[in-house]
Amino acid sequence: MNLKYPHLFSPIKINSIMVSNRIIANPMGQVFEDKALGRPGVVVAGSVITQPGKASWESAGQPYAFDKYEVEKTRRRILLAHRGGAKASLEIAHAGQYARVAPGDFAMGPSGYWREDGVEVREMDEAMMDEVVSGYVRTVQDAQAVGFDMIFLHFGHGWLVPEFLSPLFNKRTDTYGGTIENRMRFPLRILKEIRKAAGPYFPIEMRISANEYMPGGISFEDVLTFVKTAQEYIDVVQVSCGLDIEHEANVYTASTNFTEHMLNVKYAKVIKENVDILVSVVGAIMNPDEAEKLLADGIVDMVALARPLVADPDWPVKALEGRVEDIVPCLRCLQCYHIATNRRNVGCSVNPRYANEDWVPRKLPKAETRKRVVIIGAGPAGCKAALTACERGHEVILLEKRDHIGGAIHYVAMEHFKVDIKAYLEYLKVQIGKSAIDLRLNTEASPKLIRSLAPDVVIAAVGALPAKPPIPGIDSKNVMSFYEAIEHEERIGRNVVIIGGGTIGAEIGLELSLLKEKNVTIIEMLNELAVQGNMLYKIGLRHKMGEAESLHVMLEAGCRKITEEGVYVRDKKGVEIFLPADTVIIAAGVRADRALAESFYGIVPQTYMIGDCEKPRKIQEATMEGYTIAAAI
Ligand SMILES: Cc1cc2nc3c(=O)[nH]c(=O)nc-3n(C[C@H](O)[C@H](O)[C@H](O)COP(=O)(O)O)c2cc1C
Ligand code: SF4
Repeated sequence: MNLKYPHLFSPIKINSIMVSNRIIANPMGQVFEDKALGRPGVVVAGSVITQPGKASWESAGQPYAFDKYEVEKTRRRILLAHRGGAKASLEIAHAGQYARVAPGDFAMGPSGYWREDGVEVREMDEAMMDEVVSGYVRTVQDAQAVGFDMIFLHFGHGWLVPEFLSPLFNKRTDTYGGTIENRMRFPLRILKEIRKAAGPYFPIEMRISANEYMPGGISFEDVLTFVKTAQEYIDVVQVSCGLDIEHEANVYTASTNFTEHMLNVKYAKVIKENVDILVSVVGAIMNPDEAEKLLADGIVDMVALARPLVADPDWPVKALEGRVEDIVPCLRCLQCYHIATNRRNVGCSVNPRYANEDWVPRKLPKAETRKRVVIIGAGPAGCKAALTACERGHEVILLEKRDHIGGAIHYVAMEHFKVDIKAYLEYLKVQIGKSAIDLRLNTEASPKLIRSLAPDVVIAAVGALPAKPPIPGIDSKNVMSFYEAIEHEERIGRNVVIIGGGTIGAEIGLELSLLKEKNVTIIEMLNELAVQGNMLYKIGLRHKMGEAESLHVMLEAGCRKITEEGVYVRDKKGVEIFLPADTVIIAAGVRADRALAESFYGIVPQTYMIGDCEKPRKIQEATMEGYTIAAAI
């Protein structure tokens, strides 16, 4: 077989086991079944706690995975992980000071304090440490006994063990605090006992945070000292970063679109140069080209993927078969993350099945009756509907009035911080090109045209129009829409005022200031920027904006008038200010083009409206609607 990615698909021996490729499907909660079928080398089949009866993760009452009534379910994870030929690994974790506890109970950590939620964190004494060590040892032995091929020790992201390692959490003055030698004393004891119990041939991977991204967090020098010492007990070190519960640092653990790809490689490289064990790296390794290069250059031995395998669980098998253009790219939008979305509407923007595995099948069956489906508008919703209907065997005509597909994301993809959306747009283009969809660009739909096509089903996905607020002077020569600003950056002057600080206005402002050296002021009526964005997106945006010195934001401010010299603004105290502007960009959101969408009703009974023309929305909802409608016809 002529491999496009020979390094990615070369086997590797981890201690006593042979792994058929270099891809680790990293843990994301307890769901891993689809990822296992996509043929990675290793699947981390969810996580388990170590201390039943103690608040070590969700609660003191959380079942232990190897209890009499749980063990068979746990063993099934191995079978499911093996289905695609991967080795089955198991994450073993202890939340330490962040454990969820019942009223009256306490959590434990290196140092005692009262958490903001009123829970006491007790400083661990020797007896508590002994119990934790025994818990780890017993869990590892139980995992071994039921047949896991290896284990994944979660020693990163601010859970119990890294709490000991990091001076951010560890304030002790005894032999477990202070110097790195003291701070790693307890972690090394756990590792030593695990290795002793597991024997020399059982593969152990340990994940660490190379940078905690918090003031006072562990230094990389200390991380290196720890890994160099710990290597005696483990086989693979996985280089990650950030913290889990501290959201300011969580935006690096699961990075947003404001962070570069492969953000942990710089640390992994140094670690690899300093240790004799295998090194894996996780964090925004988005495509097989990136992964292959890391391996070919000898920077790491394995790559770990989390969200890319949510966006497309078949990422590994498609890379193996050289079908890279078929891989659905992850957008790093974090809609899959309960923390980002505050546990509301968790799902994947590009994979409708994620979090809906109970009703969205891996593969859709063919439709019983082939229908002629006319879809109006080739934005994300229209494209997803077209691809899904086509997959089901329908005849699909996709009408698009512009000379390109993508709708709003055609423009968004041109933004600097939207390389992941650009990859998704490319994916849609290629998939539509490869399919039997009859794509008609430069074709403005009208009810007459639709009637002439004699469809069985009509899907209106005509999108939204940029909102034009009734501000005096909005038609001045120096005013442009956000679409125009993105597409014709050369027309933008040095002093810029952006009216509207939603996600688009904020990102345009950021890019113009940070990368194009413009003086930018964003005027936003609400009391925060990017109100549509999820919580982690907003933190990522704020961090990046902190780097943009020439970017100014006025919240709770209203635009009074635009002239060819600038903008009159009323600030939140009611004071009127004049902001000189060579260019004024209107980014006041979009409004659904309902009238156009409604004009297509009444031609055939099966007529639907999806995407932004129903109501402006996220790609996640557009994808889901496109999928569900097309799956149902
Ligand atoms: C929704 C979500 C759930 C996660 N759940 C876990 C988990 O249960 N255990 C864990 O160790 N890491 C978890 N992670 C972190 C990932 O394993 C991974 O380190 C992180 O997403 C960065 O990799 P990526 O850029 O390939 O997504 C989770 C990440 C996300 C986005
Ligand atoms: S929701 Fe967004 S970040 Fe999460 S896997 Fe899907 S595309 Fe990636």
